Amino acid sequence: MHRRSFIKYSTILTSVLGSSKLIFAKNALPLESAITNLDIAATAVPCDEIMKEHDYWSRQIEKSSPYHVWNQNIKNAELANFRTASQLNVTSEEIALSRNTTEAIDTILRGIEFQKGDEIIYCIYDYPFVQNTIRQLEKRYGINPVPVYININADPDQTIINAYKKAFSPKTKLLCLTHILNWNGRKLPVEEIIAIAKRNNTKVLLDGAQSFAHIPFLLDDLDPDYFAACYHKWFRGPLGTGFIHIKKDNVEKIWPLHGENQKRSGNIENFQHLSTLDFPAFLSINKGFEWISQHSIAAELSRKKSLNQKIYDAFRNVNGISPMIPGRNYVRNGILSYSLLSEDPGKFVNRMYEEHKIILKPIRYRTLNGFRISISDDIGEKDVELLIDAVKKEL
Ligand SMILES: Cc1ncc(COP(=O)(O)O)c(C=O)c1O
Repeated sequence: MHRRSFIKYSTILTSVLGSSKLIFAKNALPLESAITNLDIAATAVPCDEIMKEHDYWSRQIEKSSPYHVWNQNIKNAELANFRTASQLNVTSEEIALSRNTTEAIDTILRGIEFQKGDEIIYCIYDYPFVQNTIRQLEKRYGINPVPVYININADPDQTIINAYKKAFSPKTKLLCLTHILNWNGRKLPVEEIIAIAKRNNTKVLLDGAQSFAHIPFLLDDLDPDYFAACYHKWFRGPLGTGFIHIKKDNVEKIWPLHGENQKRSGNIENFQHLSTLDFPAFLSINKGFEWISQHSIAAELSRKKSLNQKIYDAFRNVNGISPMIPGRNYVRNGILSYSLLSEDPGKFVNRMYEEHKIILKPIRYRTLNGFRISISDDIGEKDVELLIDAVKKEL
């Protein structure tokens, strides 16, 4: 694929366009749908514009050939790269597209040259696949995983910060950290934890699967060494698209996951070996940045928060459930989870779908047993009322 001019092109665009701000449009589901999808935290239904864009590129491919269309229109992917960098206030020389957050995280975990005895700090509530990769590294290279135990439903931030602080040692090589936990939407105090890592001279890999395009933040403020996220959740972009951010100084220290090159180098393009993939999806990411709207991430977040607050208030006196949140009024974003006190999560969630056509996420992990609600930008008051009535009826 012709990507030689990729970085140069993006750099020129940065200087011409300056920093773009991600904005949201209200988009109806692409098809008339009787289903209420409250599971954007898993994967979003792409917004209407992206559906149309994906369809357009698929039709173009039908008329010629996949690689031909990709190579002729690579600028769309370059623009997605550039706009992602602008959104996060970093440079496009530090961003490489990937298929999803998992692939981006694995690129780092499998790309660092670990020595036997090196320690990786992670949390028992990090995404399970991330924990599995760390366990593979333990088996293959003899690294030592150092788990951080916290109670995400009860611990105040300071307790969590202290738990991370205790995990560092002179052998710590990497800290794996999740920005927002998928289980209950808890945002970890990552600013403080990253500051501790820096004092301990430790690199930080930040998992932004649940934070990118959901809460406002700039990467250069948080300053992790590596950041991984996807477009197919809160961004409502095409399924199977994500990206990795690697701070400039670190690019040449990581082995690329795929064989783009025979060696390591300071060139981020080494990490964007996309090979054969869903070309229409990658050509459509850019469209997500073009939605015409009045809503910024911050405004959209506050709308989601107020919908979740409404649910929280309505469920206050409902028997059989209890919120997975530390303390009162902790509704801080688009995710709200509940423990089920005497129901099986799978059965409850199935019933919610069968009887009410509402999609929720069952949560069954360690001591967590319940369901998750996550609010997309196409969810409104009526959907929330439907949910409240349905939950009350089914409990
Ligand atoms: C915290 C977290 N990390 C990683 C992932 C994996 O995301 P992806 O589907 O983009 O690989 C998820 C998915 O839900 C997640 O919640």
